[in-house]
Amino acid sequence: MVTFKLGDQFMLGTATSSAQIEGGDTNNTWYKWCLEGHIKDSSNCINACDHWNRVEQDTELLKNLNVQTHRMSLEWSRIEPFPGEFSEEAMKHYRDEIRLLVKNNIKPLVTLHHFSEPIWFQDMGGWKKPFNCEYFIRYVRYVVENLGDLVSDWVTFNEPNVYTSMGYLIGIFPPGERNIIESLKVMAQIINTHVRVYKLIHEIRREHNFNGKTMVGCAMHLRVFDAITATGKMVAKAVNYYFNELLMVGTTTGRFLFPLSLMGGGDKKGIYVDFLGINYYTRNIVEFVFDPSQYFYLFVNDRSLGKSDLGWDIYPEGIYRVCKKYYDRYRLPIFTTENGISDRKDNKRPDFIADHLYYIAKAITEGIQIERYYYWTLMDNFEWLEGETTSFGLYECNFKTQERTARKSAQLYADICKNKGLTKDMIEKFSKSGHFTW
Ligand code: BGC
Repeated sequence: MVTFKLGDQFMLGTATSSAQIEGGDTNNTWYKWCLEGHIKDSSNCINACDHWNRVEQDTELLKNLNVQTHRMSLEWSRIEPFPGEFSEEAMKHYRDEIRLLVKNNIKPLVTLHHFSEPIWFQDMGGWKKPFNCEYFIRYVRYVVENLGDLVSDWVTFNEPNVYTSMGYLIGIFPPGERNIIESLKVMAQIINTHVRVYKLIHEIRREHNFNGKTMVGCAMHLRVFDAITATGKMVAKAVNYYFNELLMVGTTTGRFLFPLSLMGGGDKKGIYVDFLGINYYTRNIVEFVFDPSQYFYLFVNDRSLGKSDLGWDIYPEGIYRVCKKYYDRYRLPIFTTENGISDRKDNKRPDFIADHLYYIAKAITEGIQIERYYYWTLMDNFEWLEGETTSFGLYECNFKTQERTARKSAQLYADICKNKGLTKDMIEKFSKSGHFTW
């Protein structure tokens, strides 16, 4: 374990999403998806962490962690429960929540779309109908006009690459389709919508003279795809192109790469993000398999690496590799908008956090402009298909009693946030034999 310093301007925080923590909302697509029986442990996001009723308590958790920033998302289906009907009550709730963050010097980074959306939107054909982006844009206008004085930093879409591949290609997220053409069409819609939302947020905040520099980005899930065999390398390239590149290039520059280019549009040339939002979790080793009934690839684990509870390889160098790759290409500031591990026993998380931050510090010393880090996530939550079975939280959440308990790594993270780095004293305080495994 080695010390590192992230710099005084660097900001550390946590990230959450509304459908995964709030509970109590029957209007969103994930509630319906849960009722339809798609969740591993049959749990339902209607429960989650009951955060909707515990905002003050959870803000205390953030304060205990000494975070300088917090990423949260808004639930579109609460704000606009019926098409064109906006809930002032929901908006007041979010204003109060965000005001509390600001009052405590925690800078909000607000996501407008984090996988879940209103059931009515999906019933109207969702992103498959080109006109429907107008509904999302109308919602964004309402939100930014109402929150833009408190919030300068926005994420348009969370992981549009995960959203489109899980929802429209593999069919395991709502709306559960398995159609590559549809997945590409939805990607195109999302890119165009992102570009419009980017401009709209800037326009509204400028018109109203809202304080603070407007920062808009998209949080992309970027994976490292490596391979050992020659065929594996070819397939890894293809997977990387489909999963990482199409939407990274699209949301950053507005440009449609092939085959999106066949759909027309997407010929805007520009830069439509103020920061690169990077969610990084793991690396996959890709192998080629010939099975026409399946996909043409297989992900294999690297046996030499530690694993999370979900079996994901722990590969901290990957965060450095993705940041370097995209910084070299775009020269834009980077916010690592998510990074975390499911580790119920909490004996891998401390090293996980320290090692990933070490690589971020290394990147910074090489001139890569990484400005923020958001740990995923504040407390154990409703983890989509995995339901309540994972443990990504710095705090453990008992879903029955709603009791939150700090894991040991919460203490370590609180010290890292306070010191903006890892010092010798901290290593002594937290480690056994040079490692944070307790
Ligand atoms: C998503 C989160 C999710 C996390 C852990 C990210 O892909 O943005 O919503 O909980 O990964 O799987």
